[in-house]
Amino acid sequence: MRILVCGGAGFIGSHTCTVLAERGHELVIADSFVNSSPRVEGRLEAILGHAPACHRVDLLDRGAVAALFACERFDAVIHFAALKAVGESCERPLDYFDNNIAGTIHLLQAMRAAGVGRLVFSSSATVYGDPDTVPVCEDAALRVSNPYGRSKLVMEQLIGDLCTYDPGFQAVNLRYFNPVGAHPSGLIGEDPGGIPGNLMPYICQVAVGRRERLEVFGGDWPTVDGTGVRDYIHVMDLARAHADALDFLFRERRSATVNLGTGRGTSVLQLVRAFGRASGREIPHRIVARRAGDVAEVYADPSLARSLLGWQAELDIDAMCRDAWRWQSMNPDGYGDEPAAGTAAHATASRRVPDQVSEAIAGG
Ligand code: UFG
Repeated sequence: MRILVCGGAGFIGSHTCTVLAERGHELVIADSFVNSSPRVEGRLEAILGHAPACHRVDLLDRGAVAALFACERFDAVIHFAALKAVGESCERPLDYFDNNIAGTIHLLQAMRAAGVGRLVFSSSATVYGDPDTVPVCEDAALRVSNPYGRSKLVMEQLIGDLCTYDPGFQAVNLRYFNPVGAHPSGLIGEDPGGIPGNLMPYICQVAVGRRERLEVFGGDWPTVDGTGVRDYIHVMDLARAHADALDFLFRERRSATVNLGTGRGTSVLQLVRAFGRASGREIPHRIVARRAGDVAEVYADPSLARSLLGWQAELDIDAMCRDAWRWQSMNPDGYGDEPAAGTAAHATASRRVPDQVSEAIAGG
């Protein structure tokens, strides 16, 4: 099938591209490169043996999105393109609503106009907030606690309404728990800009010497060792689930919402120790106060993904740490000295866009 991957240059998007290509799908990446590196394209070429088609498109540009669908034919869309930093979303809520929600509306409009009715949507366990019980099932109460989470929930709801009222439209919402790790080649991985807000990239940067020590947010949580417990999931397992979700959509022609996690919780200190074993490096750390908005323990009930999609996580914490460390040690500065959005990096990325398509998008 011919799949449009919106946000395909990002962390989860780029890994999903490798799995889709291995399964014989033809990929077209659309990415604004606002929060991702144009170098991903070359790295994917090195992994796949060919460069996937790549368009620089911002979903906020309704005309450009329409032009993309007018120029290319797609069987389905996977939608990763969104801003995702919880803290930043509290500082700039309207930017999150605009980028994530308005961008999604533009994408859905273009899909409908082009008669493309299959969507896999990148959602998040953030929609559960602080759950009443663990493991968390898909029918748990939805209670978001920040604008980023709100944007994910609203996007799910918009997509859900479309599925309800348009018989030609089906979607799978994938609610990720805590994606970590990297492609086994070490060529692509997670490269957060600025100070990492998430645990694994922070540990990676401590291990590689970019940061002095990890601050562990709270040692007095009601958990196995007093530190926060999460359901870390290897990004390659997650990537595989997207391909399985596409198969589900074409096989069953119905919509679904599923958790993607391992079903196992790991504490901050357990992850620090596992990373120490995988990297052979000491991870200096100290316990500090709890972070506002954090919760003690969240992990998935992943059984619905197994029964609906035939998917389950296969890679354990040691594999997650080993692959994250391979990526970080091979790329100590991530994708490196990328110019900021809107500069020469964009010109590099857009050179690969076929002329007539890029002209239509630019003029769109
Ligand atoms: N933590 C630290 N130090 C750090 C960073 C994190 O101790 O420097 C701790 C946190 O307190 C928490 C655990 O590590 O106990 C995991 O924190 P992350 O920030 O990596 O992940 P969260 O579970 O808080 O949030 C992530 C994403 C959200 C998403 C959520 C889904 O950031 O966007 O998972 O469950 F919604």
